[in-house]
Amino acid sequence: MSDTASELPVTIAGTGSYLPEKILTNADLELMVETSDDWITSRTGIKERRIAAEGEHTSHLATNAARKAMEQAGLDPAELNLIIVATITPDTLTPATACYVQQNLGALNAVAFDISAACSGFLFAMKIAKRLISTGAFENALIVGAEKLSSFVNWEDRSTAVLFGDGAGAAILTRGEEGGGEILATEIGTDGSQTHLLNIPGGGSACPITSKNADKQLATLAMLGKEVFKHAVTRMRDSANQVIERSGLKAEDIKLVIPHQANLRIIDAISKRLAVPSDRVFVNLHKYGNTSAAACAIALDEAHRSGKFEKGDHIVLVAFGAGLTWAAAAVRW
Ligand code: UT7
Repeated sequence: MSDTASELPVTIAGTGSYLPEKILTNADLELMVETSDDWITSRTGIKERRIAAEGEHTSHLATNAARKAMEQAGLDPAELNLIIVATITPDTLTPATACYVQQNLGALNAVAFDISAACSGFLFAMKIAKRLISTGAFENALIVGAEKLSSFVNWEDRSTAVLFGDGAGAAILTRGEEGGGEILATEIGTDGSQTHLLNIPGGGSACPITSKNADKQLATLAMLGKEVFKHAVTRMRDSANQVIERSGLKAEDIKLVIPHQANLRIIDAISKRLAVPSDRVFVNLHKYGNTSAAACAIALDEAHRSGKFEKGDHIVLVAFGAGLTWAAAAVRW
């Protein structure tokens, strides 16, 4: 699903991120499950991940990231029109985590809702917010990718326990000016025939957690990693290529690719297939692991704040996750 040519420009006016303090290293995991730093590093590239504190919920992570993005954009909470939180680890099934964020920020003039598109969620939120601003329905939007995956990991399953972490990233979208910073193209897609590859089977209406199944760890992530890997590479390559082409760009025009941070081998494969050298592909998964919807958002903020791109540069964000879902965005900063 792509953009239309007649939309008014929408720009990214600020970014922010927040990572919980607690660090869980590969060495720590060696004491919890049968694994090794060597296996985790060579198969994924992950060295450590962050774990939210007791009582620190997804909405708290999201709010902290949002405050930084709003500060950078120079936007007061009362001026916010729209809040979209992308998450698969909401504080509660209802109300939406975005409503808790609205409450925390005191952004009572905004409309707030969640979207569930797994690791692609932040870029789904970007597409929705972009469209709502470009049509004149809203002047600005706060989009957040936030996850507390540590609450949904089976810490006895080595095939998933080593992969995931907690964190949040945010961006403020506002109307832009012709020729200035602009989200040039966005792409989103899903394949519902592959829901079995990556899911949290329990805790929803299909399989409520009851006293009879409480010991089966059903409300935790289950993944067929090898299958997911193959889909991730082709879907991310294709969706990135689509936004690059629709923006009239070539690989050499791209200052930085910011991919979903799930596995360094996937990132390397994407870098090769897009013909963008690895020094122009942003990686921070060694520090945070896979933070699902938060990953691209945190990476965008870190790359922005560390000066990896500047005004006028072109960047491409691309993600892939459960659903299956995939998404990409090409941005002129
Ligand atoms: O964010 C959403 C998108 N998610 C992704 O893109 C993830 C995509 N998948 C992957 O990144 C990789 O498939 C994984 C990192 C999840 C797994 O890597 P893999 O190279 O596909 O390993 P595997 O699952 O095929 O397992 C290979 C071996 C198995 O042992 P045997 O059967 O060969 O004896 C596993 O039991 O590695 C074993 N293994 C481990 N060994 C040590 C699996 N997990 C571990 C572990 N430590 N943590």
